Amino acid sequence: MGEAMRLHWQPVCLSSQLKDLPLALRIFGEDLVAFRDRKGQVGLLHKHCSHRGASLEFGRITDEGIRCCYHGWHFSHDGRLLDAPAEPPHSPLLRQVKHGAYPVMEFRGLVFAYLGPPAQMPAFPNFDSMQFDGVDLVPYALSHECNWLQVHENLMDPLHAVFLHSRMGEIQLTEAWGEMPAVEWFEQGDRVCYLTSRQIDDHVWVRFNEVAFPNFGQVAGFWEDGKAVKYFERIGATRWTVPIDNTHCWIFGWRHFSPSLEAKGLGNASQVGLNRLDIYGQTGDRCYDEMQRNTGDWEAEVSQGPIAIHAKENKGSSDRGVVMLRRHLAQGLDKAHQPPRSIDGQTPTWTCNVVLHRPDPMPAQGTLTLSSQELLAIGRSVQAIILAADALPPALRQAHIVANLKALSKPYFA
Ligand code: FES
Ligand SMILES: [Fe+2]
Repeated sequence: MGEAMRLHWQPVCLSSQLKDLPLALRIFGEDLVAFRDRKGQVGLLHKHCSHRGASLEFGRITDEGIRCCYHGWHFSHDGRLLDAPAEPPHSPLLRQVKHGAYPVMEFRGLVFAYLGPPAQMPAFPNFDSMQFDGVDLVPYALSHECNWLQVHENLMDPLHAVFLHSRMGEIQLTEAWGEMPAVEWFEQGDRVCYLTSRQIDDHVWVRFNEVAFPNFGQVAGFWEDGKAVKYFERIGATRWTVPIDNTHCWIFGWRHFSPSLEAKGLGNASQVGLNRLDIYGQTGDRCYDEMQRNTGDWEAEVSQGPIAIHAKENKGSSDRGVVMLRRHLAQGLDKAHQPPRSIDGQTPTWTCNVVLHRPDPMPAQGTLTLSSQELLAIGRSVQAIILAADALPPALRQAHIVANLKALSKPYFA
């Protein structure tokens, strides 16, 4: 899986972590040092100096690179040996030594790197969600002391939200999350997705989340309560689950903030950053007593152990998405890597919340409790509208989807 992840651009740290000192980090079991030289170039180098192995985390950042603390060898951001002051000026070492360095790209406060074979370097990702008008992307990084997969597969486990985030302790998001949804999971191309469909009084709340091979994922806005009509409101967080090694990982991503996503005033961009998120229970720094009483995602995922043993699980129908994701990942290893489909340079994503008022078959007046089959049918109608718009240029897609979603409950608007 690490080999597959190396074929994709991966976040490795936050831009804000690159200050006046080098940053030691570990990604895919490999020890590295990141730094920003004084001209602003970001380097991601092998940690141990090519001379005699002192760690470059103790190096001095220069105008155009980093100088090892031990004998002053000077490396550029792309690994060239610029000078070696203890050696004669024409030392062959200057031509011979090339220090391990990876290509780096900074985007919206995250530092991405490509750690795979140079000949297979893909284009930088361009999911639509990386550049919505009017949405602030606030970068964050959350460390977890466990294997990446048990963190990642939480994204395809919507039933945990009913219990962990609602019924088992305090309400961590909104009351509507505690309502049991009708759920369907599906695979499409490089993605595994779910739709959940819940009746909240005379509204139906349909939610989509998606993961894309190998370790990308998105979740829709967090604060939905299902009480007011909403058409294709997009994303709460865009993220990658990046292994540090087999028993540690990071979530790197962006929280999305916009006036409509944050209309209830429940989010807080100032609480988003390094091991900080404005969503309850995403970090391991709360006190043990609180973790026991009001348990969050972090504890549920990490407490499975350093590497969850799948053979010990007793999975049920609610785990269908986790099983589908694991199979999707295993099958993805055998496939040639295809870049995700893009339209006008953007890859359309589907993650969203949709709230419809009295969609068919709810009556115009009075009450009716929908069956889970009816809820699923409504969810599938929403899904069909969203997926069918994939081929449209980004500028037309949103309006097209909204117009078609409105038509789903049109008789009652009339
Ligand atoms: S070990 Fe780095 S310069 Fe000697
Ligand atoms: Fe969760």
